Amino acid sequence: MIKSGIFSMLLMGVIAGSCTQPSVGVNYEVISPYAEKVDSVLKLMTLEEKIGQMNQYTSDLQATGPSRKDSTKLEQIRKGRVGSMLNVKGASNTRRFQEAAMESRLRIPLLFGLDVIHGMRTVYPIPLAEAASFNLKLMERTAAAAAKETASEGIHWTFAPMVDVTRDARWGRVMEGAGEDTWYGSRVAEARVRGFQGKSLADTATVLACAKHFAAYGACIGGRDYNTVDISRLTLHEVYLPPFRAAAEAGVATFMNAFNEVEGVPSTGNTHLVREVLKGDWSFNGFVVSDWNSVGEMVNHGLVPDLKGAAYKGVTAGCDMDMESRAYTSHLEELVKEGTVDEAYIDDAVRRILLKKFELGLFDDPFRYCNEQRQQKTVLSLELRQVAREAGAESIVLLKNDNGVLPLKEPEHIAVVGALTDSKEDMMGSWAIEGVREEAITVLQGIKNRYPNSVIAYADGYDLETNQLDLAGAKRVAAMSDIVIVGVGERAYQSGEARSMAHIDVPDSQQQLVKHLKEMGKKVIVLVMGGRPLIFNELEPYADAILMTWWLGTEAGNSIADVLSGDYNPSGKLPMTFPAAIGQVPIYYNYKNTGRPSQPGFMTYTCGYLDQDFRPAYPFGYGLSYTQFEISDPIPSQKEYKKGETVECRVAVKNTGKCAGKETVQLYIRDLVSSVTRPVKELRGFEQVTLKPGEEKEVVFQLHEKELGFYNGNLEYVVEPGEFELMVGNSSDHLKKTVILYN
Ligand code: NOJ
Repeated sequence: MIKSGIFSMLLMGVIAGSCTQPSVGVNYEVISPYAEKVDSVLKLMTLEEKIGQMNQYTSDLQATGPSRKDSTKLEQIRKGRVGSMLNVKGASNTRRFQEAAMESRLRIPLLFGLDVIHGMRTVYPIPLAEAASFNLKLMERTAAAAAKETASEGIHWTFAPMVDVTRDARWGRVMEGAGEDTWYGSRVAEARVRGFQGKSLADTATVLACAKHFAAYGACIGGRDYNTVDISRLTLHEVYLPPFRAAAEAGVATFMNAFNEVEGVPSTGNTHLVREVLKGDWSFNGFVVSDWNSVGEMVNHGLVPDLKGAAYKGVTAGCDMDMESRAYTSHLEELVKEGTVDEAYIDDAVRRILLKKFELGLFDDPFRYCNEQRQQKTVLSLELRQVAREAGAESIVLLKNDNGVLPLKEPEHIAVVGALTDSKEDMMGSWAIEGVREEAITVLQGIKNRYPNSVIAYADGYDLETNQLDLAGAKRVAAMSDIVIVGVGERAYQSGEARSMAHIDVPDSQQQLVKHLKEMGKKVIVLVMGGRPLIFNELEPYADAILMTWWLGTEAGNSIADVLSGDYNPSGKLPMTFPAAIGQVPIYYNYKNTGRPSQPGFMTYTCGYLDQDFRPAYPFGYGLSYTQFEISDPIPSQKEYKKGETVECRVAVKNTGKCAGKETVQLYIRDLVSSVTRPVKELRGFEQVTLKPGEEKEVVFQLHEKELGFYNGNLEYVVEPGEFELMVGNSSDHLKKTVILYN
């Protein structure tokens, strides 16, 4: 019985209303050759077995959330009470659990899921770093490589990509996504889904992907993980939902609910979000898994009085699988039997889950992913490490390079300072749970590998835990060389889930270290390491060169050495604005003009701060190269276009420097006058061009009508006629523009 009277009345209201028959939004006959098979299995299932399919447990081998030990899990699997396990890895472990499932009455195979966020045993750059490469093909490649390794360990499903847009560098989970831009984040989402899932889910080198966390998790107030989200529906649809929609349209197999509420209703129990938008408007045919205990946490949110209410809310809103809260196993049967939940909801969820198991080929052979030999051949192979190394080099962003101090050709002596440069564990970054730290190449090791003939001296310079300086040691080592490479930043564990930070400055002592080394008359090259935009204004004037090197994974040190040496000419661009002060956060390039636009400096009665320029330290899209590029004015094919026509815009790019390099030419638009105000610029295209010195190429951008549109006050997607600015350049704050009329 549901305890609260008010709550039962609410339930009655819903039941009596439109929800008695769930809108399942799936036409199985059309979508899948497996429809009949799915239904034939469903017909054999008892209610208890159906609910079992909707239940996911973590194994006790590893936990990625607050778990409770339970020695009965294998027994429950044998009874058909578990549909999926997370945190089981390895061909032999997954085989062991699958064997238990094969002892169940209907022998329905288990689905194994894991957080393969940026690699399995081979760890690739954190997703935010990879987003800096602006190389979609590369992101597809690393996802495919990660999928291959993951699948070889018996796992069928990764809880990635995270497609949450985020404008707040305090939020620890910025490291998992593609940064602040909705349009770019949508392209990255598509690429990663393509990479993980490949052409066929039946291929044992691919895995199911999962678009998470639905929705608006990145808008948590104050950047505090799990916190309340309070945004308008317009912002929800315009800023936070598009990457999810892009993932759905790219065929992502699953979605994960977010922990946060949207419009006062936790996402896991949010019928509008999941059943109406995702499964209804977007016709999503995959299944939705809750986040860890997010069904149960609806009690803490204050949406329901107890776990039974949470089960009701979750299942009716469209959450098909309950990760770890046990609400479904404990209460769904009762809810159905007493008539509170229509069994059609259960059937819908189970169909969606079984469909994926069929698509993976698990009904043909439940052990087809558990192949020890394939695992041995695949895991940490040279091929995968090579992908990681390339991805690492492409993720690095050159922020400063005075007097061409970089690249370093063949220096006789190099001083390396900074405990982070010799920390294997930190190279991996957060969410690298399967990575083995001993296997990571540190920066120091990478430099040694690249410069075998140089004398390399190393000092910690500071204590990793306390940040206390060892200035004497650092100076002693620096005295041996003209060139000092200094590694600074945050620790890897300081970003990721539940790692929000109120201070995102590089520790003061580390910034002082750079200053002291510069005062010795050295050429100082600073490597900034971290999982988020950091603030390091104090050291900036004392650094000859600055590279943002993030966390790059297993091959980090080699990738960094590739860039330091010029073997790879840096081409990364920032996918997130780097603030100049914490008080500017949230800060993003596509802000609106307001009635009193911000002005550089400290002008009163404008939209700024009294004590801080409103501009960031480094803008979105910014990143230098060892060569220089000249980008021409944008030349539209016409000055006026008729509605429906595709806008074409040409731009010439020339390498005016001394070495070959790759430039990312960016196209932004601005709708100058509209019924709902528009941002001062919005990224709508980019093209990467590789040029030899002196070489020139033309880039042609095409803007389809849809890309000029926005959601109006009635939440309709519209393109309003009028003037648009087209802007091109190599960074969001370095653009040349023209105006076109679109009527
Ligand atoms: C909680 C995290 O929010 C989610 O991203 C992750 O996939 C699950 N835990 C499972 O580990």
